[in-house]
Amino acid sequence: MPYHADGQGGSLVTGTRLEEAHVYEMDSRIGIAGASDQGTRDRQPDRSVDRELIDLLRSHGPRECEALASYERLLEQVDDEGVAYLMSMILDDERRHHRTIEEMLNTILSFVWEVDIEPSTPAVRRRPIPDVHAETKRLLRLEREDAKELRALRRALRSAKVYSVHTLLAELMEADTAKHIAILEFLIERTKP
Ligand SMILES: [Fe+2]
Ligand SMILES: [Fe+2]
Repeated sequence: MPYHADGQGGSLVTGTRLEEAHVYEMDSRIGIAGASDQGTRDRQPDRSVDRELIDLLRSHGPRECEALASYERLLEQVDDEGVAYLMSMILDDERRHHRTIEEMLNTILSFVWEVDIEPSTPAVRRRPIPDVHAETKRLLRLEREDAKELRALRRALRSAKVYSVHTLLAELMEADTAKHIAILEFLIERTKP
């Protein structure tokens, strides 16, 4: 039985609905891990894959934590405005990584233990949402234009060597744009009518 969103997609609270959502979401993750995408809705938990994912996430968590603490310490000590500016950009990312890793781990543990552990990642189910689909396609075109402009900007900045930190910032925005494109491509595929 496919999972049907009923307009309360954000409030997956307890019981069967939560499990179904997690199973559905796990399917795509297992897909990434190399298993077939076919018929996975009836999939029994593959404990070996689950355990491997849990181990990976668990070992990555403390490392993220350590990096986060080091960046925080460094940022407190540093009295150079430029260094602090760039360090705080990394720190923002690391805080998000830390949260994301924890949410991913909780989602998999919820699935394996059949209890609801929060905060977890919400399921992004495959279901037709025509207006979101159309708008994300339009945004994807914009982001690709953005990528081209940023590349030109970075090249122009690179030839005017005095603006080295701006070259770096343009490069970082290009990386962000690549990230936005990856998210949009995922959403376009998920919301396809
Ligand atoms: Fe990180
Ligand atoms: Fe963007």
